[in-house]
Amino acid sequence: MTIDVSDMGLAGAGARRIEWAAREMPVLASIRERFAKDRPLRDLRVGACLHVTAETANLMLVLRDGGAGVALCASNPLSTQDDVAAALVANEGIATFARKGEDRDSYYSHINAVLATKPQITMDDGADLVTELHTKRRELLPDVRGGTEETTTGVTRLRAMAAEGVLAYPIVAVNDALTKHLFDNRYGTGQSAVDGILRATNLLLAGKIAVVAGYGWVGRGIASRLRGMGSIVLVCEVAPLPALEAAMDGFEVTTMAAAAARGDLFVTATGNVNVIGCDAIGALKDGAILANAGHFNDEIDLRALGEQAADRRELRPFVEEYRLRDGRRVVVLGEGRLVNLAAAEGHPPAVMDMSFANQALSVEYLVARGRTLKREVYPVPRELDEDIARRKLAAMNMKIDSLTAEQAEYAKSWKAGT
Ligand code: ADE
Repeated sequence: MTIDVSDMGLAGAGARRIEWAAREMPVLASIRERFAKDRPLRDLRVGACLHVTAETANLMLVLRDGGAGVALCASNPLSTQDDVAAALVANEGIATFARKGEDRDSYYSHINAVLATKPQITMDDGADLVTELHTKRRELLPDVRGGTEETTTGVTRLRAMAAEGVLAYPIVAVNDALTKHLFDNRYGTGQSAVDGILRATNLLLAGKIAVVAGYGWVGRGIASRLRGMGSIVLVCEVAPLPALEAAMDGFEVTTMAAAAARGDLFVTATGNVNVIGCDAIGALKDGAILANAGHFNDEIDLRALGEQAADRRELRPFVEEYRLRDGRRVVVLGEGRLVNLAAAEGHPPAVMDMSFANQALSVEYLVARGRTLKREVYPVPRELDEDIARRKLAAMNMKIDSLTAEQAEYAKSWKAGT
């Protein structure tokens, strides 16, 4: 397949959007500078399946300047910024296959177009590229030296593959770096999910009852931002420890069965399926708004909703109203896909700066060390994580103290007591 983007006429706008994002990505810029000088990725073929955004574009430029040939497709049918895709092709020589709103067939044909470039490194967000490679394009596996994975859902899938002994090459779990999930998942999704909900609906959040399903890093971020905007936030969780944490963070913890009839707004962030299922749909208030911030669009049971609906219509972009046979109206944002990317622009660049610094440094690590690694899921080395934190602090003009020699000694000793 040749390059496939929506409209090359958007390249100018895309270039400006990429430039604007770059201003908030100083850590990535410092890596780009070093990569351009040292070319650690010389002649490497990288196949990336990521949300095609201005932030991703900046990562692609780092890889390209490091010497890699890069092919890029979308990791979600609704997350592509068409102007950015056009700019990558027109101005930057990045083979890009992505259109906002592409259907499932196009989504997978774009993944296959990237695989056709015979990547030596895969860079995935959700593990669809890796799954396609392992199930349908196994003849390409011998070329692959390693991979990286951006998100919680993808890491969960990869761990399942490794546990079954089917993972064919080492993959670095970028998501698990502290400079990734503590900031991107929490503050990035927290802010951008609210941004997506507001852009789509123009809803006043103050005084609304918001139900957040899932209290992982993403759920924590969303719950805290919704509370900050004045919503009364209920949290639903299946695991006792995060549920307890939510309770002590000051949220009411309850079940979906109990929350369903109370919520004005629901946001799912569990990584699991049918979290708002048939029964919950049966109990929703008239006008309830449903949004998803988890990786896949299966957290809201859209099939059950469709079955209960007499008709449906688009009220505004990314706002679809289902009129149920009993007369209630239920509103779904962004087709139940990641609301922050479908209806807004995804995480702000300042946070993707750290996530994508982890990506770039993990690729460099795989090139240097890949041959010594097993077919397992690896963490980002701690020293890279700390290096990124230091660079980010420096870019934010924040200084930190160092231990004195006495304190360093004290921290290692066990003899001093009361
Ligand atoms: N995931 C969440 N937000 C993103 C963004 N802005 N760019 C790429 N991937 C993302």
